[in-house]
Amino acid sequence: MDNPFKFGSIVEGPYFTDRSRERAFLRQVLDSPNHAVLISPRRYGKSSLVVETLRDVKRDVIAVNMQAVTSSTKLAEALYRKFFTLHPLEKARHFLSELRIVPTVSFNPVSGAPEVSFVPDSDRQVILEDAFNVLENSGGKKRLIVVFDEFPEILQLEKGLDKILRSIMQEHKNINYILMGSQEEMMKIIFLRKKSPFYHFGVPIHLDKIPAPDFKDYIVQRLPSTLQEESRCHIADDILAFTDCHPYYTQQLAFQVWFELQQTGNVSGIVETAISHIVQSHDFDYSRLWESMNKTNRMVLMKLIDEDTPPMENSEIPASTIFSALKRLVSSGILIKNGKYRYDDPFFKKWVLQLRNI
Ligand SMILES: Nc1ncnc2c1ncn2[C@@H]1O[C@H](COP(=O)(O)OP(=O)(O)O)[C@@H](O)[C@H]1O
Ligand SMILES: [Mg+2]
Repeated sequence: MDNPFKFGSIVEGPYFTDRSRERAFLRQVLDSPNHAVLISPRRYGKSSLVVETLRDVKRDVIAVNMQAVTSSTKLAEALYRKFFTLHPLEKARHFLSELRIVPTVSFNPVSGAPEVSFVPDSDRQVILEDAFNVLENSGGKKRLIVVFDEFPEILQLEKGLDKILRSIMQEHKNINYILMGSQEEMMKIIFLRKKSPFYHFGVPIHLDKIPAPDFKDYIVQRLPSTLQEESRCHIADDILAFTDCHPYYTQQLAFQVWFELQQTGNVSGIVETAISHIVQSHDFDYSRLWESMNKTNRMVLMKLIDEDTPPMENSEIPASTIFSALKRLVSSGILIKNGKYRYDDPFFKKWVLQLRNI
């Protein structure tokens, strides 16, 4: 039998659990003329939630990951590429008749995939307006769904791009936008700060970890049925206690546990064994990460093994230095701030603990 746990890429169908409330809510936003703003730390399941929700929505979808976009012109090219994937060129001609700057469109002779480019130095605002308006005009009765993953990247692309995008996107009536982001601070700055062009642009949906009872059921059902139910429950509890219900790390650990069970068939200490194998397999990356850190980062990470609050007091390092270290660790995704500061990766936390105990 194949390992029934999946991590690292989008999960859907039988691999997807819970989130019924969030799915229903997102669905309702898409069935209305509103836009959705989806916020959670990395690997909590944003992309999976969107894919799972869109599975039963019979509408055209255009999705672009902003991390893969390097300029506003490249963004327009990506939008056209996706557009020509949905609409064959012959049928799309009338959408293009209004364009002020017409792109060069060709098709990859091997894959047949569309390729789009612009003459250098064309006016970026006109290019973007044209591209977005083609999408708007193609929407019609069944609104088009446009998904931007890692949306805060637009702030790094070009100065003023957020203002331009907002001015274009706010006019649209035939598109539902889903804007996602993993950098919570940045998402809040973009969507919740009054001065930001995207202030209150869409309905915010915050994704939390998966509730323990649901995740436990999911794991118990998938562990080998040759094990007693009590034993499976025990293993699931141990897994969730370690991962604190983090969607990605839970699936990763469950995957490893399933593998170890096949190897040994012995349930005693199985979760511990799986954890130490995962920690060991990341030793090289964790060492490199640790070496790249300064003294303050290391001190903060050591302290946060036992404490949830930042160790501001009784320290030889000024509080302001500690505060900026915490901020850096959050923005690089090593820590998560949710009232308290916590490790994102429980295996890295374990690795640091082992280091401290040497
Ligand atoms: N609803 C879910 N049920 C089970 N596992 C999930 C769920 N959502 C996410 N995961 C786990 O988390 C991993 C990361 O999910 P992903 O959708 O890529 O997150 P994000 O887009 O927030 O980074 C998935 O590969 C899967 O292992
Ligand atoms: Mg994602």
